[in-house]
Amino acid sequence: MSLPSVTLKLATSLDGRIATGSGESQWITGEAARAQVQRLRAAHDAVGVGAGTALADDPLLTARTDPPPSTQPWRVVFDRALRVSPAAQLFHSRGAGPVALVTLGEADAFAGLGVTVVRCGRADSATAMLEALAAATGIGSILVEGGGVFAAALVAEGRIDRLEWFRAPIVLGAEGRPAIGPLGLQRLSEARRFRRVSVTDLGEDLQETYVRVEHKEA
Ligand SMILES: NC(=O)c1ccc[n+]([C@@H]2O[C@H](COP(=O)([O-])OP(=O)(O)OC[C@H]3O[C@@H](n4cnc5c(N)ncnc54)[C@H](OP(=O)(O)O)[C@@H]3O)[C@@H](O)[C@H]2O)c1
Repeated sequence: MSLPSVTLKLATSLDGRIATGSGESQWITGEAARAQVQRLRAAHDAVGVGAGTALADDPLLTARTDPPPSTQPWRVVFDRALRVSPAAQLFHSRGAGPVALVTLGEADAFAGLGVTVVRCGRADSATAMLEALAAATGIGSILVEGGGVFAAALVAEGRIDRLEWFRAPIVLGAEGRPAIGPLGLQRLSEARRFRRVSVTDLGEDLQETYVRVEHKEA
């Protein structure tokens, strides 16, 4: 089994929200944090989002560094039910780097656009989706940029190797979208743990970097 290493990037309020209740998230963090995210994109083989983020934000997911990277990362959408539109700008930007769509069934409309369609036989496993993606593209690392639902699946399966958490000094409240969706935990001993390895000031924001601590079954 070949799995890419996974970095989860989150840009949140102080209370761990990635968007307002209406889904507005651009921009929670300031320019310095966003420039750092571009560098993180350039440092990974792929950049990925869940279908919800692709639908809400219509992102390009390119690495916009100065100078630009010698190779653009793969840009990936994880969308089992094929809810994204072939009209999304990502699927019309092949000149800006390769694009993959990880899904369960046929996706002929996307293949016709030059998108690498990665079919995964399992709906219940983010791990299986990553495996299928690595087998199809040869990537060794991926920066996942959310959103909360897809991030929760990766956390629940113990797939997050590294966390890059950008924290802005604002408060969005309980109606804001959580950084990590429901995990169904009952006990603290069931929680995934991370070890903080650095904290960096980025203007008004903070970048906290964490690495995974091996999980002991409760
Ligand atoms: N501030 C930030 O850093 C940041 C980053 C990203 C997004 N956002 C915001 O977050 C919101 C979108 O987040 P979201 O949580 O609604 O959506 P999301 O996590 O981006 O996407 C959720 C979707 O991912 C798909 N998916 C694919 N594989 C999955 C798996 N193994 N397990 C679970 N789901 C899987 C599912 O759709 P299928 O059933 O079709 O597979 C699911 O509905 C937007 O408002 C966006 O602006 C903020």
